[in-house]
Amino acid sequence: MESLIAPAPGYSKIRLLREIYYGFRPNKPTFTPEDYPDLAGKTAIVTGCNTGIGKHTVELLYQKNCNVIGVVRTQSKGDQARDDIVNNNPDSKGTISIISGCDYLDLSKISAVGEKIKETLGDKPLNIIIHNAGLMAPNNEGTSFQGYEAMFQTNVLGPQLLQHFIDPLFLKDDDTSLKRIVWVSSGAHLLSFNTYGINWEDPLFENVPTKDRPNNNVLYGQSKAANIYQAKAWFEMNKTICEKIGCVSVSCYPGNLKTDLQRGWGLSMAVAKYLFWDGVYGAYSELYGALSPELTSKDSGAYIVPFGEIHDPREDVKLGLTNGVDIKLWDFVDSKISKYY
Ligand SMILES: NC(=O)c1ccc[n+]([C@@H]2O[C@H](COP(=O)([O-])OP(=O)(O)OC[C@H]3O[C@@H](n4cnc5c(N)ncnc54)[C@H](OP(=O)(O)O)[C@@H]3O)[C@@H](O)[C@H]2O)c1
Repeated sequence: MESLIAPAPGYSKIRLLREIYYGFRPNKPTFTPEDYPDLAGKTAIVTGCNTGIGKHTVELLYQKNCNVIGVVRTQSKGDQARDDIVNNNPDSKGTISIISGCDYLDLSKISAVGEKIKETLGDKPLNIIIHNAGLMAPNNEGTSFQGYEAMFQTNVLGPQLLQHFIDPLFLKDDDTSLKRIVWVSSGAHLLSFNTYGINWEDPLFENVPTKDRPNNNVLYGQSKAANIYQAKAWFEMNKTICEKIGCVSVSCYPGNLKTDLQRGWGLSMAVAKYLFWDGVYGAYSELYGALSPELTSKDSGAYIVPFGEIHDPREDVKLGLTNGVDIKLWDFVDSKISKYY
């Protein structure tokens, strides 16, 4: 990849530690379900919604009468989640439609998901997209069907490819009262490479034997730094229409939460989970991005932290949002996914 726009600046280790600590002891949420508007007639897409934060997010949207399109890998898991939510909330006037087959580890499957979303949506306006699905692998060995490092493909390539298919359905002058995209990131971006968070030589570790990859925390952190760039870059690439329709695109660190994300991590994570919060708090963070009236187009690129406030990301990543690194990342991802358009 061609050289960076400017060498990455250093960052304060003290601030980094403070931000890590904040993840465990965040401020209380101030924007919670009683503050959410009625969402009758609105439509939201939530990926990875069969469990964890995604399931909580769908439930809170559905309670406000939203029509939710839940995107999952496995139909039966999605159906189970939908049935749980519908049975728990008999008064909702919303709907939940499950679309399966969205396995980001194989990019060739994503165009079919885009088609199903188009059919399910019909001519209704699309108001909210939450790119929630994600992988935090317990080791550095995962490799996708395309031969790329598994977390970067799942957390970055997959969502950007799905967004490519959703763009024409979303970027419309239809229901402009609410147009939001939330790219789910993590405080783990603090642990990513010190070169704007990204290993620019080979972000996908295509040419590196698995044993020579960095550890899984750094790889996960890289993918989550990329999510912060995606939120800003997507807005910049679509700025004219986004400003016209009042679209907001933000990244979100939902919190340190007890979900299935830590599956396979063993004893260390089982202990750490005592410090973690219930998964519904992560939904408060994501829905701050999706629903808070405090946010406008001008906030696009903002990094939301638990449980619904805005902080700066790590210093080099923050600079990367203003000096073109975000677009460089976007273009790199695009070069890898465009053959699956
Ligand atoms: N929990 C935390 O402490 C925490 C902290 C910071 C950020 N996050 C972020 O929050 C988001 C939700 O995580 P969570 O905690 O709710 O985790 P979770 O309970 O493990 O749920 C993850 C969801 O992503 C889906 N997913 C995993 N790999 C996928 C793939 N290759 N293709 C498509 N979907 C895939 C899972 O589907 P299956 O069930 O089929 O595997 C599941 O629906 C993630 O982006 C995560 O990085 C979580």
